[in-house]
Parts: sequence; structure tokens; C-alpha cells
Amino acid sequence: MACLTSIWKRNMRIDIITVLPGLLEGPFSHSILKRAEEKGLATVKVHDLRPYGIGKQHTLDDYAFGGGAGMVMMIEPIASCLEALKKERAYDEVIYMTPDGQTFDQPMANAFSLKENLILLCGHYKGVDERVRQHLITKEVSIGDFVLSGGELAAAVVADAVIRLIPGVLNDETSALTDSFQDGLLAPPVYTRPADYNGWKVPEVLLSGHAANIESWRFDESVRRTKERRPDLIGGPFSSEKGGNTTAQNDS
Ligand code: ADE
Repeated sequence: MACLTSIWKRNMRIDIITVLPGLLEGPFSHSILKRAEEKGLATVKVHDLRPYGIGKQHTLDDYAFGGGAGMVMMIEPIASCLEALKKERAYDEVIYMTPDGQTFDQPMANAFSLKENLILLCGHYKGVDERVRQHLITKEVSIGDFVLSGGELAAAVVADAVIRLIPGVLNDETSALTDSFQDGLLAPPVYTRPADYNGWKVPEVLLSGHAANIESWRFDESVRRTKERRPDLIGGPFSSEKGGNTTAQNDS
């Protein structure tokens, strides 16, 4: 008889299309992401775009119509690669990594983590032919207001943030739920042994063993830290704190 975990256990798949597959060898062969693959919870496949290139040289880019500096990634190799992948399975989203996309955040990571199959397309050079964006992709995502040399590192960031949310990937499942941003607040400070290092003491309440007081202290610290560092999050759509006074005990 199938046990409950095997009924809802699923394998999320992320296919990453890139002209520099070597750049993505590292991130997925270590730590949590590697463990997610080993546990059969997530599969990340990196696809070299080069074999889909045009002619003997497998060309992937060309000059921009109308002139201007920089090469543009051509539509045909990308279309051929997407076609090959889509023959194998249906994809929930085909995401183009680009600095002018929608800014990636925790709610977007949460939403992606519920999907089954995602494609991340990494841009390079001056970007992709606009017709790729108009007709072949479903979403455009940026990891912040800065320009990277290509979309590979951005794709690795997105894949990491998404895969760690899949139930069973982290040993302590609650730890993803208590991350910064999950309730619209930054995470509270954490401490470990020793309780006193050179006179720098761990807050007394954390040593008290009083669960309710600890929880209340952590919430107050989260609110205090968020107001101090990210006041823009307070009262926002994902905030559990509407900006009122708190009972923070550790304001010094
Ligand atoms: N490619 C280059 N810069 C990027 C960014 N900030 N986010 C996503 N993809 C990118």
C-alpha cells in the first residue's frame, strides 16, 4: 500500500537553457540542491544551446538590425531547443531571465515551487530577439536592479530559492516557513553556544525555556528588525504586521 508521503511526493523539474553550461555545473552539485536531486524531489537539467545553433558553426547570435553595438541571440536556436523540450513534457512556465523582468521575490518563489515543470532561459550578449519574448516565453524575471553578464547566475538563484521550498528538501521543514520574507517580515536574530562570549551575552529569554515568551520575543525582534532595515515591507501585501507599536524587549 502506498504511504501518504509517496502519494504527494513529487519531482519538480527545472530545465535551464544557456550558452554557457559550464557556469551552472557548480551550484547544483552541492549541498541542498544536490540532496534534493538525490531524494528524487527535484531535477535540474542544464541544456547547452550550441547544438541548436545555425550552420556548421552552430551560430547563436547575430548583429542587431538597425545597427548598434552588441550581438543579439537569434530566435531559431531558442525555438528549436524549446520545441525539443516541449516534446518531452508540458511546461507550466517558460521564464526568460532578464534585468528588465518582474523582480523575483519570496511570493514568486513560493508560487514557482508549486509548479511541476519550469524552463529558465538565460540571456546573453544584448539579449534575445524580441520575438522570443513576444511569442515563446510566458514570464520575464529579474533578480534585481543590476546587470549581470548573463542570466545563468540569476537562474541559479531562482532555482535555489524555489527548490529549497519543496517539502522534504530541507531537513527541518519548518525552517523554510520561518525564513525572512515568508510572513512579510525579516527573520529574528539567532544565537548558539556559548551563552556568554567575552561578555557578549545571549538574550536571557532564549535561555529561559519558556516557549511562549521566546516566540513573542522572536516576533517582536522580527518586527523591530524589519522596521529598522526594510520599513517598506511593513504593512505591505505580505506583511503580518500593520506597523503598530511592538513590545520589543531588546531595543538597546
Ligand atoms: N541577466 C542579466 N542581469 C540579470 C538580472 N539582474 N536578473 C535576471 N537576469 C539577468
